[in-house]
Amino acid sequence: MLSLGILGSGRGSNARSILEYIEAGRLDARAACVVSDVAGSGILELGRMHGIPSFHVDGAPFRTKLDGAAQDQVIGLLREHGVDTVALAGFMRMVKPALLRAFPGRVVNIHPALLPAFPGLEAWEQALAAGASESGCTVHFVDEGMDTGPVILQRRVPVLPDDTPASLHARIQEQEHLAYPEALALLASGRVRLEGGKVVRS
Ligand code: GAR
Repeated sequence: MLSLGILGSGRGSNARSILEYIEAGRLDARAACVVSDVAGSGILELGRMHGIPSFHVDGAPFRTKLDGAAQDQVIGLLREHGVDTVALAGFMRMVKPALLRAFPGRVVNIHPALLPAFPGLEAWEQALAAGASESGCTVHFVDEGMDTGPVILQRRVPVLPDDTPASLHARIQEQEHLAYPEALALLASGRVRLEGGKVVRS
């Protein structure tokens, strides 16, 4: 059984989907804690509603990365709560090597594009601006790069002629809510793991 620490900055719809799969007995995991760098975020509210220990950690003085004292605090919370797998679910800061070393091969992320296409922020807007005919989402192991780690799985969505950024993101999110629990189930069962920086499937 996975012992999950879920990190997010926003609404928490991916976290909600993960919790629903756990509660329905479709994902062999427990949510050990939720951590957010945004006070009052939806993901913290969600964690509290589900009775999960949920914490705000102030990321200052950094704006785009989790580093220094804030990173140490997050690692401490994850360890205290017995986390063995860290799921980034809309966590809008880059995690740094100390966290990756604390949970080697056990930090995963979901990204709203078919990586390696459109890494970084607002990937759905990037897909529209590039005139892509399809996009999707990727669940991947996290490495030190930005959205560069080995891919666990992807789900595709078409880009429609009348798509707006909001409509495309919504369609991608529907697939994210299936992809993330599915990827975590592969980890929970040992059918996917990271060895020597490569994804091993069995
Ligand atoms: C999701 O679309 C996720 O893929 C994206 O943020 C959204 C969070 O939504 N993450 C990134 O862009 C990371 N680079 P949620 O808070 O409703 O799960």
